[in-house]
Amino acid sequence: MFASTTYTARRERLRKDLGSGLVLILGNNEAPMNYRANTYHFRQDSNFLYFFGLDQPSLAAVLDVDAGEDIIFGDELTMEDVVWTGPMPTIAEQAHRVGVHKTLPFNDLAAFVKKALEQGRTVHFTPPYRHDNMIALSEMLGQPVAKLKEMASVPLIKAIVAQRAHKTPEELAEMERAVDISGAMHVAVMKAAAAGKKEAELAGIAAGIATGMGGALAYGIIMSINGQVLHNHHHYNTLQSGQLLLGDHGAETAMHYAGDLTRTCPVDKRFNQRQKDVYNIVLDAEVSAIASLRPGLTYKEVHLAAARCMAEGLKSLGLMKGDLDEAVAQGAHALFFPHGLGHMIGLDVHDMEDLGEQYVGYSDDVQRSTQFGTAYLRLGRALEPGFVLTVEPGLYFIPELMDQWEAEGKFTDFINYGALKDWRTFGGIRIEDNVLITKDGHKVLGRPVPKTVEEVEGLRG
Ligand code: GLY
Ligand code: MN
Repeated sequence: MFASTTYTARRERLRKDLGSGLVLILGNNEAPMNYRANTYHFRQDSNFLYFFGLDQPSLAAVLDVDAGEDIIFGDELTMEDVVWTGPMPTIAEQAHRVGVHKTLPFNDLAAFVKKALEQGRTVHFTPPYRHDNMIALSEMLGQPVAKLKEMASVPLIKAIVAQRAHKTPEELAEMERAVDISGAMHVAVMKAAAAGKKEAELAGIAAGIATGMGGALAYGIIMSINGQVLHNHHHYNTLQSGQLLLGDHGAETAMHYAGDLTRTCPVDKRFNQRQKDVYNIVLDAEVSAIASLRPGLTYKEVHLAAARCMAEGLKSLGLMKGDLDEAVAQGAHALFFPHGLGHMIGLDVHDMEDLGEQYVGYSDDVQRSTQFGTAYLRLGRALEPGFVLTVEPGLYFIPELMDQWEAEGKFTDFINYGALKDWRTFGGIRIEDNVLITKDGHKVLGRPVPKTVEEVEGLRG
């Protein structure tokens, strides 16, 4: 964890931003996999980590804005716990490390919250996303689970976003580490990929590096010869000559800051001409988008510029046609680029998504699009120094979508459906890096991971 002053300063700022009331932050619990004692890998709640730093299950915290007091609720280990899981510092000792000097048994929390409500005090909380915490909160507040999301505190959400969106130097050091571990995963996978290998073997290499370097996977690995399936978490295919392998995977450090990188390489040692052509279109969009990043620009503009750049490339291949400004304005490019250019990243791979993308990625000035494709852009608002975001353009040939759009006669002024007949098994290409917005421009995080055609082929032997 960071020094205790980091956590006290974060809580102090939250107190100032909110002005009054109680903030209730529930930590995460162990989550059973197939029976109670066989649990998923434990992951602490990111807001709890950010303000209270303690990385263990069954804790909750209250920040009393009016009294200027913080309390951690948790239970000491019993001797049986010690026998099975080993000794631990007391809750009070741990709380001390994050600058909290009052601790209470977990069971006191419900009465504490009830008393505050009876006194007419505001209890601020964030939208719960784990079912056990939904039930706990519902019982504590005496409200149905279905109402909790709308009851979540907008002032608290806004205050958290305002802090967490701007990464500090000590957070950036962690994020550089996360990207470096993620880069090592990609290099190892691109070196090992070969016809006859299973996607699962390569996913295992990536996962081994993430855990072997002291962290964990930041999200489920995408390792697929079907890169056109955007969130494909199956790894049962065997790589075959002539195919592309799309790897989208990243590590989180022991302190839970995430990296999120994507690379695409040929299963053969070299890209074929068609693969190279599409690869270079995506690469050009990625490199140009990164080069343009600076404070003040909206990420929606960057997204649309990347879409325009790739539409141009597709026109040169004879797959798109007509007025490309109009094509992008109407959303025709989304046949090939149906997702957003990127998202904030930090303690979560999609940073703060639990708080609501409207608050994290949009503003009163920049509203989310409702158009297919651009609607999936998670970050649209103006960029500010300290933001860390992903830049991840991609081009995909999705047979089901091509068939549907052609059958509907959609965008026939912009899409050359005849030429697409020959591209049904191409797959998909995405390239992704993680970038910090600085005072004057931007900085790509981590050591460079091979990305040009020549660099990628250089890893393939
Ligand atoms: N890494 C997967 C995503 O950004 O959605
Ligand atoms: Mn991503």
